[in-house]
Amino acid sequence: MDNIVSVQNVSKVYDNGFQALKNINLNIRRGEILALLGPNGAGKTTLISTITGIVNHTSGHILVDGFDNKKQFRETRRRIGLVPQELTIGAFETVWNTVRFSRGLFGKHYDVNLITSLLEKLSLLDKKDDQLRMLSGGMKRRVLIAKALSHEPMILFLDEPTAGVDVELRKDMWHVISELQAQGVTIILTTHYIEEAEEIADRIGVINNGELMLVEDKDVLMSQLGKKQLIIDLKGATKELPSSIKSRNIELSSDGLTITYTYDINADAVGITSLLQQLKDNGLVLKDLNTKQSSLEEIFVGLVKDSSSSRKNQ
Ligand SMILES: Nc1ncnc2c1ncn2[C@@H]1O[C@H](COP(=O)(O)OP(=O)(O)OP(=O)(O)O)[C@@H](O)[C@H]1O
Ligand SMILES: [Mg+2]
Repeated sequence: MDNIVSVQNVSKVYDNGFQALKNINLNIRRGEILALLGPNGAGKTTLISTITGIVNHTSGHILVDGFDNKKQFRETRRRIGLVPQELTIGAFETVWNTVRFSRGLFGKHYDVNLITSLLEKLSLLDKKDDQLRMLSGGMKRRVLIAKALSHEPMILFLDEPTAGVDVELRKDMWHVISELQAQGVTIILTTHYIEEAEEIADRIGVINNGELMLVEDKDVLMSQLGKKQLIIDLKGATKELPSSIKSRNIELSSDGLTITYTYDINADAVGITSLLQQLKDNGLVLKDLNTKQSSLEEIFVGLVKDSSSSRKNQ
């Protein structure tokens, strides 16, 4: 596999002594969309900042397209576009000039067509002559994206790109991100919207307390950690489950009308067939059957919860 970014044993201790990253190892594949998930304060922004060279890592190495991001800073910076989490743009500059100057900073020639097409893609063309202070929060975030793309980077970091962006625009942004990927750009984004990761990411990394807990293909993650539930509605309420099917994976609702069976996604169907047979044998009549698959959100919450409770128990 061709890795475009390689993070090797990276730790970060801030000046006040706080350790925000603990021995991170992460390879980012060329052309992928990697989503980093984690609660507030987990270390997502710190990790992105160390890769992009805004924050110096305390130990370890980071290679970007083969270049060491400390020793060969200019080579690495040129390849990277960054959309920061905080809105850090001057108020009085116009949209057009903001993007134009940003491209200039990288020593690239002025390219009207490129800037026009960027603004068009991000639905900003009609605002091109507006000063930034005249834009809404979601528009400012899109200007940041245009700015980050202005020097045609091969790797784009988006730190919560759709925070504060409405649902409709968020979908537009997912489209822009997919298009960039189709053009060969590698994309790393952080997000608190799990459906965003579920929708557009190829792989998902989970960070918690400065540790990278896992990096996995989205589909593998969902099928490995996912649970399925069979929800059985009964015609008449029952007080108790028949003793033959009592198990910790089977629950009866308090009104006695619904039985929920939680099972591993990869388990075969044998358990279900015998469960249904036993319900029948015990005179319970089914009204309806439904299955539900756990979402990425449930998987994520479970992971983060497990790790903080095991830490408390240490
Ligand atoms: N300059 C700094 N000095 C000291 N500690 C810092 C500094 N910047 C961040 N931290 C701490 O490092 C930890 C990780 O912060 P970081 O901003 O990377 O989290 P995050 O995962 O991006 O969170 P969020 O989802 O809220 O954006 C936090 O505990 C934060 O307080
Ligand atoms: Mg952050």
